[in-house]
Amino acid sequence: MSGQMVLRGGACVTPAGHARASYRNFFHPEQRWMFAGLRLARDANPKLAAGPKPASAFAGDVVAGLSRPHKQLSAKYFYDAEGSRLFEEICDLPEYYPTRTETALLRAKAGEMARAIPDGAALVEFGSGASTKTRILLDAAPQLALYVPIDISPDALDGAVEAIRRDYPALEVAQLVDDFTTAMDLPQAAQGLPVVGFFPGSTIGNFRPEEATAFLASARKLLGEGAAFLVGIDLIKAEETLVAAYDDAQGVTAAFNLNLLARMNRELDGDFDLDAFRHRAIWNRDEGRIEMHLESLVDQVVRVAGRSFRFAAGERLHTENCYKFALEGFEALAKPAGWRVEAVWRWPDPAFAMVLLRA
Ligand code: AVI
Repeated sequence: MSGQMVLRGGACVTPAGHARASYRNFFHPEQRWMFAGLRLARDANPKLAAGPKPASAFAGDVVAGLSRPHKQLSAKYFYDAEGSRLFEEICDLPEYYPTRTETALLRAKAGEMARAIPDGAALVEFGSGASTKTRILLDAAPQLALYVPIDISPDALDGAVEAIRRDYPALEVAQLVDDFTTAMDLPQAAQGLPVVGFFPGSTIGNFRPEEATAFLASARKLLGEGAAFLVGIDLIKAEETLVAAYDDAQGVTAAFNLNLLARMNRELDGDFDLDAFRHRAIWNRDEGRIEMHLESLVDQVVRVAGRSFRFAAGERLHTENCYKFALEGFEALAKPAGWRVEAVWRWPDPAFAMVLLRA
């Protein structure tokens, strides 16, 4: 009775009456009483499976996001080299009003904003990129002693810092290569200086409300007691204006959204067919946000990061939220983070605002 295996069920050669939920094989291999089966699976992507290295955070987020009942992916993955180039193009589109409008507002009101900046202060910019809009403020506030740009991309920072040092020789610059949502400490050079934060671009609109409050709370901690914080916010306006800004006639925003699929193909060995998806920009009135989605045009199975995912025709991958604010709504996010609204500068049409918060 030793060396027996317990199997389930039976096969076409199993004698009648011997098939059952579990089946002990008493017979030698040459006695054909049962067949055993193995299910074969395709190997995972050898590139992902081979190395001892764990799959990237991107791979993990893609697998988790595409496994959800409502598929989604973080908008931070838009910004590879091509995505960053396309975003620059978006900022110049006739329909994409936020960049132009905020720049016009800064130009018109920088003098008033500069009055909130004390002598010898440090200006701390969150997600500074090329520091383009910052120059308007720097020109209006020669009393600034220090500029602290924070950005995750060392390349973006190096180029911007070099140009700022060249054009503003009297200003000290101390850059911080860090994720601006989690940066914990200002550089030594800022110790003891009055501090003013700067967060233009309505990038705060890409956070969910609870994330926006968490970010504002961490910014308050970083900037310190008594600090000021100048934040650009896009205001709620007519649905046609909002949708056009995120679904332009030239299709640049569509290319920006679809580039996420191209990035997954390139970096995670995916096989997304870019022609089998379309870009959608939808105004969600209840949530006060434009949503960007990639909608599957057909029933399809896609492989990416060593896994397969089914998309039904019409099913969407939610790629970005762009919240639009009412001033009271923004104030309600800032208050629990320890900020009060000290001043507001509004551009009437298309509606946009720079809000000065005080810790
Ligand atoms: C970066 N962020 C403020 C842009 C926005 O308007 O929410 C991102 C964007 N997505 C599509 N177009 C622009």
